[in-house]
Amino acid sequence: MTNGQPFLNRFLAEARPSATYQMMDRVAARRASGAQVISLSAGEPDFDTPEHVREAGIAAIRAGQTRYTQVAGMRALREAVAAKFQRDNGLAVRWQDTLVCSGGKQVIFNALAATLNEGDEVIVPAPYWVSYPEIVQLCGARPVAVACGAGHGFKLTPAALHAAITPRTRWLILNSPGNPTGAVYRHDELLALAEVLLAHPQVLVLSDDIYEHLIFDGLAFATLAQVEPRLRDRVLTMNGVSKAYAMTGWRIGFGTGPAWLIDAMEKLQGQQTSGACTISQHAALAALTGPQDVVTRSRAVFQRRRDAVVAALNAAPGLECAVPQGAFYAFASCQALLGRETRGGARLETDEDVAMALLDEAGVATVHGSAFGLGPYLRIAYALDDASLQRACAAIRDFCLTLEG
Ligand SMILES: Cc1ncc(COP(=O)(O)O)c(C=O)c1O
Repeated sequence: MTNGQPFLNRFLAEARPSATYQMMDRVAARRASGAQVISLSAGEPDFDTPEHVREAGIAAIRAGQTRYTQVAGMRALREAVAAKFQRDNGLAVRWQDTLVCSGGKQVIFNALAATLNEGDEVIVPAPYWVSYPEIVQLCGARPVAVACGAGHGFKLTPAALHAAITPRTRWLILNSPGNPTGAVYRHDELLALAEVLLAHPQVLVLSDDIYEHLIFDGLAFATLAQVEPRLRDRVLTMNGVSKAYAMTGWRIGFGTGPAWLIDAMEKLQGQQTSGACTISQHAALAALTGPQDVVTRSRAVFQRRRDAVVAALNAAPGLECAVPQGAFYAFASCQALLGRETRGGARLETDEDVAMALLDEAGVATVHGSAFGLGPYLRIAYALDDASLQRACAAIRDFCLTLEG
């Protein structure tokens, strides 16, 4: 009996499953067998979707808003998306140049699948969100990871970008605030990258702004299309309601970019999922047009948690963590733990070993940095209540304290 391999699409066969989902599955399995696990592995806010947004979803169902919408999304939502880009990012956008998708991930998938051909290259600064290289790979193109170490705050430098561009480069993917490091590109840093990009007209840019509102220390958010208007006809600005409004399960993302690209993405989506869930579109409309204080409140909560978690991680012998300025992730080096042995007898050779031992022996789930293209690190998501975070950090510290060797 075959395992199915010969039947698989060869790009899918070579793609890796998401390391974050794998860790979430492990956590579920441990919990099902009765173990206590604190999960710092999930990339979603722990808050509930705001009440008025949930009510808008319920009202949509009651009003019979349960049929297909246009493939690109309801006009009212597209207008709200255009208004959001104007309000938050200073981008004058026509509603016709927006597209609503089933989550931010589908915006990315649509854009890459609509444009990439075999042999094309996509520059992915590493560490990266796990899905970028896999989506590129699924499209038959080649992800080109460019190492962006702690020395530059995990950010792409103009020199590194310049060195990575070839005649085959089709896209650069930028993500700020970033997953998994929380790194934020400042206005001047984007301007310096734009300078390089202006000299390479064959390169499109995907600006993944999904963590836009989760930015700390009073820092101003900047996005490439706003910073360098001369690049606007080559930039797809992507965003969504998942992280800003605690709406990960509603599956609504959106983007704006040049008309030809939005049209191509719509064409693709029309043969795939069609319009995003109608009820979710109504809820997203309420999120974008309703009171925005939820955004400010969650930013303050995450900043407080960031401070507590980073301090606790740096107090654990062997871990070292810079202060991230956005998102809800800390990215801690575990270099000093390698080569040592746990109380349970596990030898720590890689960051994956560290993450597995933390799960097995300390009951704390994290994701190893090498899954994001840079090891040896641990990604710690602090989208969890204060008490659980405190217990998790104490368990991590105990784990580090009891290592041998
Ligand atoms: C950097 C980044 N982009 C996009 C997404 C996808 O967002 P959505 O849940 O709206 O598909 C995520 C989700 O984890 C993310 O971390």
